[in-house]
Amino acid sequence: MTRIAVIGATGTIGQAVTEALAAGGASGVVAISRRVDAASLPPGVRAAQADLTQPESLDGALANVDAVFLVWTAPPDAAPAAIERIARHARRLVLLSAPYKTPHPFFQQPNPMAALQARIEGLIEASGVAWTFLRPGMFAANAIGWWASQIRKGDVVRWPYADAATAPIDERDIAAVAERVLQDDGHAGRDYVLTGPDSLTQAEQVKIIGEVLGRDVVLEEISPEQARTELPFPPVAMNMLLGAWRAAVGLPAFLTNDVAAITGRQPHTFREWVAWNVSAFRA
Ligand SMILES: NC(=O)c1ccc[n+]([C@@H]2O[C@H](COP(=O)([O-])OP(=O)(O)OC[C@H]3O[C@@H](n4cnc5c(N)ncnc54)[C@H](OP(=O)(O)O)[C@@H]3O)[C@@H](O)[C@H]2O)c1
Repeated sequence: MTRIAVIGATGTIGQAVTEALAAGGASGVVAISRRVDAASLPPGVRAAQADLTQPESLDGALANVDAVFLVWTAPPDAAPAAIERIARHARRLVLLSAPYKTPHPFFQQPNPMAALQARIEGLIEASGVAWTFLRPGMFAANAIGWWASQIRKGDVVRWPYADAATAPIDERDIAAVAERVLQDDGHAGRDYVLTGPDSLTQAEQVKIIGEVLGRDVVLEEISPEQARTELPFPPVAMNMLLGAWRAAVGLPAFLTNDVAAITGRQPHTFREWVAWNVSAFRA
């Protein structure tokens, strides 16, 4: 039996991974974050509070664990000690990373997150643990944080780069891959670029949300300068996104078959993801 810990279990992806493991019958699953609440977890999953910036706090949570799924959003300087601690306990580590090595213009723009992911990957590779890196592209779930507030108020989404295409991936598909990679042999030293099944421009994604709602919602393109003043992103994130979208205009998004190859089924479409999350877009 593989005992599995999910670090970052209350976030978008960690929660989906925890749910997938529980639904798939994995036993001995531990959900870890700084503020994890046992009541919100699937039946049979144990809650353990730990903080990646306080590595000794991981010892109790990771006792007798074989495999770890790690989401890193903690400060970069905490990574060496935390990864050394994780590698002391687990023999297998699956990291949620990003496709910064993929030679598509969308993924090759200036991106401070890429430097952080590369640093964490280097620490993991040097730790001696058997590692696998998952590299999802744009999360479908970004649509909630980005567009839901405008869609709840009306039928227009003011947004830059209407024609930039991405292949939004459903968090359930990232989780389904993680579920297999955490439990099956043959994935050590491998990395997988995970995408949704379709290349869709941002305007097409907004239109699909409207169709699922039964409304005619349109993306009204604004300039990058307008985006900087109107949209609630910190400047570093805004620069990163504007650069990536600008590079993606007119190109199909990068698509892979890795979700289907690992899970044996096709990834969810963006329309299916919207239908699953439709309440987030309703007034
Ligand atoms: N958004 C995208 O399109 C996209 C695409 C590719 C890759 N990514 C990568 O995905 C990752 C973000 O995943 P996500 O959206 O699932 O993150 P998220 O929703 O922000 O969740 C972060 C999780 O980490 C926990 N956490 C944060 N600091 C912690 C600490 N010091 N110690 C222990 N736990 C801590 C949080 O819980 P507590 O607050 O309770 O501790 C939470 O459970 C990033 O690495 C990003 O680069 C994102």
